[in-house]
Amino acid sequence: MLNVADLLKRALAEIQAAQDLHALDAVRTSWLGRKGELTALLKQLGTLPAAERPAAGEAINQAKTRVHDAIEARKLALEQGRIESQLQAERIDVTLPGRGQRRGGLHPVTQTLERVEDLFSQIGFAIADGPEIEDDFHNFEALNIPAEHPARAMHDTFYLRDHPLLLRTHTSNVQIRYMLRNKPPLRIISTGRVFRCDSDMTHTPMFNQIEGLVVDEVSSFADLKGVLEDFVAHFFARPVTLRFRPSFFPFTEPSAEVDILGERGWLEILGCGMVHPRVLENVGIDSERFTGFAFGMGAERLAMLKYGINDLRMFFENDVRFLRQFA
Ligand code: PHE
Repeated sequence: MLNVADLLKRALAEIQAAQDLHALDAVRTSWLGRKGELTALLKQLGTLPAAERPAAGEAINQAKTRVHDAIEARKLALEQGRIESQLQAERIDVTLPGRGQRRGGLHPVTQTLERVEDLFSQIGFAIADGPEIEDDFHNFEALNIPAEHPARAMHDTFYLRDHPLLLRTHTSNVQIRYMLRNKPPLRIISTGRVFRCDSDMTHTPMFNQIEGLVVDEVSSFADLKGVLEDFVAHFFARPVTLRFRPSFFPFTEPSAEVDILGERGWLEILGCGMVHPRVLENVGIDSERFTGFAFGMGAERLAMLKYGINDLRMFFENDVRFLRQFA
């Protein structure tokens, strides 16, 4: 008698022991394949006495079926296990808090520039623009600041190395550029970067200015004062105390500087004055017929007062903890 029961036990144990589909396939071949052990048994049937053959044949076939079923069952279990471990590995905890999206915002200085442009637009000022890289004529000469003029020393100009050009030291260059192209009456506001070779607690080599210019047949210093007082009241949306101090600029006469009373005392925010007749003549405007006034404000200073910022350098450090407060 063939020992089918023992073989079956061994086969089932091997099937159970197979740890992956590849190993299981090897087990299958070794039992049921053409050269498999159970297949070999069937071939030995002929050596048995005829009376034993039917029973032995049936036992072998039953064993084959059981091995086959066991393999299928094991296969299913292995596949299931693989899917489960994959699911485990790719598990996402949907209850974790999300990372969220941080929303950016306009820089407080940009907000200030936009607000100023907006306010002046409302009273009829056109928005003008000029280059940051400028020539001597538009930045100095036409503004009545000839070479060797002591006022040039105040400007700490950055000159370009291989060109007769410079980084504009103020936005007053836009006055010249605009008057050369447009006939009075005119009213403009212009904002942008200016550069001075200067760096300490209260000065940075780049900062922003807001330039205003009015030229017409009736403008007076009283108009200048009125415009500035009106502007400041609207910009800060609260009563503000201004102080006009006599000053000097080669391109305005008379000239003044204006301070605002803040928490830490007076802070200078702008220079202004009546456009010097020689400046009008330089751009071909009849100074007998037309007068004008101009002003140049420090945008960072306005923003400091508006938002209660006490260190100018905060604007340029790009610290998101600072910037986020204005978003
Ligand atoms: N351009 C001057 C400055 O930068 C400011 C100014 C502008 C003064 C217009 C008078 C008129 O200091």
